[in-house]
Amino acid sequence: MRININQIKDMKQRGEKIAMLTAYDYVTAQVVDRAGVPLILVGDSLGMVLLGYESTLPVTMEVMLHHTSAVSRGAKNAIVIGDMPFMSYQVNAEKAMENAARFMQEAGAQAVKLEGGVTVAATVRRIVDSGIPVMGHIGMTPQSTYQLGGFKAQGKTLQAAKRLLDDAVALEQAGAFAVVLETMPAELSAFISKRINVPTIGIGAGAGCDGQVQVISDMLGLFTDFVPKHAKQFAHIAEVMSSAVSQYAAEVKSGAFPTPKESISLDPAVLADLEKAV
Ligand code: KIV
Repeated sequence: MRININQIKDMKQRGEKIAMLTAYDYVTAQVVDRAGVPLILVGDSLGMVLLGYESTLPVTMEVMLHHTSAVSRGAKNAIVIGDMPFMSYQVNAEKAMENAARFMQEAGAQAVKLEGGVTVAATVRRIVDSGIPVMGHIGMTPQSTYQLGGFKAQGKTLQAAKRLLDDAVALEQAGAFAVVLETMPAELSAFISKRINVPTIGIGAGAGCDGQVQVISDMLGLFTDFVPKHAKQFAHIAEVMSSAVSQYAAEVKSGAFPTPKESISLDPAVLADLEKAV
């Protein structure tokens, strides 16, 4: 049976750490789901790690719905969270609600995530009140990369740290069921995690969060253009793929592949008839 947001909130109360991973397609979602990861985020990070853009800004609703549908088909137990792309929720609360609903109705998600704190709290409240679970996301928010001056750590001064605490509290009060804390000092995320009752899910925010999220392509060692400081490579899949592809190409060239094992044979009588017929 599929896990629900109350069970995720209970995990914080029990002190049980929460694992979340991104997935962007059916097969990966199956692997992540079967491993027992309770939260799968179809992150707009797919714009960078899957589609090769330099930021997440070009990612559209249509692209997100396409990938979220695939993930939803692969994940039977986890909560699938659709990441609301740039300008799908910032224009006004009505447009945000319409787009959040599309993630549920058209793509089979069970929740949405959006970036921002105090400034989006009223929008979060409207979406939550319409019955859609919302995950918040504060700190280094990639959709604001040009405003923030790049993918930089946030909350390093007293004023900035206080602002992030206010953002987290505003999201909790608006009804968010969890909040992603991205790229901020570990002490600050631990402090915020103690101050709010809903789970915090960290990425580059240290061990004091209630859970952790990683971009799957980073933790699998699949996307290697840029390896963030917070990413631990649990595998080196790009190297495995590269060696398999080189071996395949070499075997095609040498004639070693395919062998009879990978081939379909024709009944010798049919072959003999074919030879006679032409
Ligand atoms: O898009 C994404 O993958 C994210 C995570 C990094 C939290 O927002």
